[in-house]
Amino acid sequence: MILITRKILPAGLDLLRSFTSELVINEEDRNLTHEELLTRVKGASAIVCLLSDIIDEAVIDAAGPQLKIIANYAVGFNNIDIDYATRRGIRVTNTPDVLTHATADLAWALIMAVSRRIVEADQYCRQGKFKGWAPDLMLGMELTGKTIGILGAGRIGQATARRAKAFDMKVIYSSRYDKFAFEVETKAKRVGLEELLKESDIVSIHLPLVEETFHLLDTHELELMKSSAFLVNTGRGPIVNEQALAEALKKGTIAGAGLDVYEDEPKIYSELYPLKNVVLLPHIGSATTETRSRMSVMVAENIIAALKGEKPKNLVN
Ligand code: NAP
Ligand code: GLV
Ligand code: GLV
Repeated sequence: MILITRKILPAGLDLLRSFTSELVINEEDRNLTHEELLTRVKGASAIVCLLSDIIDEAVIDAAGPQLKIIANYAVGFNNIDIDYATRRGIRVTNTPDVLTHATADLAWALIMAVSRRIVEADQYCRQGKFKGWAPDLMLGMELTGKTIGILGAGRIGQATARRAKAFDMKVIYSSRYDKFAFEVETKAKRVGLEELLKESDIVSIHLPLVEETFHLLDTHELELMKSSAFLVNTGRGPIVNEQALAEALKKGTIAGAGLDVYEDEPKIYSELYPLKNVVLLPHIGSATTETRSRMSVMVAENIIAALKGEKPKNLVN
């Protein structure tokens, strides 16, 4: 049996249906609770899960010894206990590459939104406040010639940086390793975290959530940023201390922020809501029809390979 914790797009489901009739799909318009996961996973040889499903030791054990693969419908896999799955000989796969452009586009949607006050301006119009063009109405920050700092120059970080070239922006990045081809292509310069925070007008986070990146940006790091700079997070919420961020936005330590991800999703730290200088999105980085459809096919192909005893393409363990 293949457990699908929530309906994914039809292309992948059709592929799985053509492989087996033994699909158990959560047809409800909501995510499963951990308790429900523990019950429904029993007897599964494969799990298609969302980034919001916590696949821990308990869920893996509840599935039973026949479990062969956990296929995450996401590129990030911090929701899965990879070490335990590996010890149990269970394969874990993700959906890299196919969502790179969609997510980099969304990072840019946030960059434009925060630097030009798009959401605030839209609300201003809807509230009937637009009384005529004015020299000082809704002034924002120009992007041309400014510096963007990419935290985590992997697939999405690099794609975000490439888009910055169209704005004639200077690119700096921080990563554990040099990316030579990327540097040649974008003239990006690798710097340390402190320099990146001090120099950037836009700081864009594209790191995975791991122990070393948890609260990488806290009060001290936010204070290193320019007071005119904007922070954009499309990586994972817990990389930024949300409480410290709200404080920094209130005090004007930084100019604004654009967030797609949160520390305790789907909860959003309540003090962010009243702030005009933050744009809040409901974790929609990869949410284009094209990308979510490709992700569904990828998940299905990984599962079919694993259940046939072959090596899935997108193994992370
Ligand atoms: P990726 O290609 O693996 O890039 C991540 C980069 O982070 C790596 O190239 C790595 O570069 C750097 N990094 C720094 N410290 C690291 C550490 N301790 N462990 C691992 N990598 C570290 O992944 P991606 O496809 O660009 O995705 C990046 C993240 O974006 C995902 O993990 C996910 O959390 C998030 N994401 C969010 C959305 C959304 O909807 N908002 C959508 C897709 C992805 P170095 O090796 O040089 O350090
Ligand atoms: C989305 O956040 C992903 O990791 O794919
Ligand atoms: C603005 O609309 C302009 O013409 O400058």
